[in-house]
Amino acid sequence: EKGGFDWFMLKEIDEQPQAVADTLLGRYAADGSLQLDEMRLSDDELRDIDKVIIIACGTAFYAGLVAKYAIEHWTRVPCEVELASEFRYRDPIVDRSTLVVAISQSGETMDTLMAIRHARTQRANVLAICNTNGSTIPRESDAVIYTHAGPEIAVASTKGFLSQVVACYLLGLYLAQVRGAKFGDEITAIMHELESLPAAIRRVLDDGEQVRELARELVDKRSVLFLGRHAGYPVALEGALKLKELAYIHAEGFAAGELKHGPIALIEDDLPVFVIVPPRGRDQLNEKVISNVQEIRARGARTIVLAEDGDEHVVPYADHLIRLPRVPTLMQPLVATVPLQLFACELADRLGHDVDQPRNLAKSVTVE
Ligand code: F6R
Repeated sequence: EKGGFDWFMLKEIDEQPQAVADTLLGRYAADGSLQLDEMRLSDDELRDIDKVIIIACGTAFYAGLVAKYAIEHWTRVPCEVELASEFRYRDPIVDRSTLVVAISQSGETMDTLMAIRHARTQRANVLAICNTNGSTIPRESDAVIYTHAGPEIAVASTKGFLSQVVACYLLGLYLAQVRGAKFGDEITAIMHELESLPAAIRRVLDDGEQVRELARELVDKRSVLFLGRHAGYPVALEGALKLKELAYIHAEGFAAGELKHGPIALIEDDLPVFVIVPPRGRDQLNEKVISNVQEIRARGARTIVLAEDGDEHVVPYADHLIRLPRVPTLMQPLVATVPLQLFACELADRLGHDVDQPRNLAKSVTVE
């Protein structure tokens, strides 16, 4: 049943190219425009939306954080991302022109369910992004986009996360389309970028041995940091969460730009720090993050750098270099997360932990 893998989690990590392809499947209408057929919200309703609020927990929340970058960039509609467990307790500003997007792999997470119930009392439109057909959250929502990633059995979410990001991207593109942006060509180009991801993810998986080796080397570490910027920031948070929940070691993710505002004080000799380096582009973020790598290395950190093929500037400051396929900035989370999943899985396995059933955790959290 584990398909030759030692753990369901490894199997599910390996299924990610297919999961992403399946999330993308069947999204075109005959005229080549985008369609989301399970959507029960009309295009008119979507045109009236003036704010998107994404609510979710844990890894699904990080998928939402990634999606914010894309949704705001493509639609110019403000997009907030909030932990479901915080949402209804702070008297959020929600009305009929708010689109509340609930992301949940299981569709049964109680915090997320209570948040959408609250949103509906405020007459918001609620859309679920969910992997489990017929589960409670999509049943209680006005609309749904199913991720179609297949059942996720390991407690730690992996293919769930990637497919959630892709489904959010589909939503962002669809919103851009119905809102009439002269955007048609661009939507097609972005769809092609998404469609090229399964092959890119497969390549990262094929390079997995290097990450497994690294986990063996770092097996006695008690603390690991993760740095990222822009869409790489939520990837850092996700990398840290995976390590906490599976290996039970202290791990924290930071926005690389925040380093100098505090976290740099944590850097000490031989502290492993993963850094997700943004693709080279016009925005200078690549250069800025590379200079962060330089700074922490000068203070003794052991730098584990994830950088795209052909990025040579970072090489002198990387104690370990994990290569990523060259993809646009907004697509990078979908390749950069994969080595971090493998790392956490391998380290936990080395430590003798039950990777599929970490202590104290349940697959779906049906209490608040
Ligand atoms: C982390 C993990 C959890 C879930 C969270 C939300 O690996 O699995 O953080 O992501 O409990 O679960 P769903 O998506 O089912 O609502």
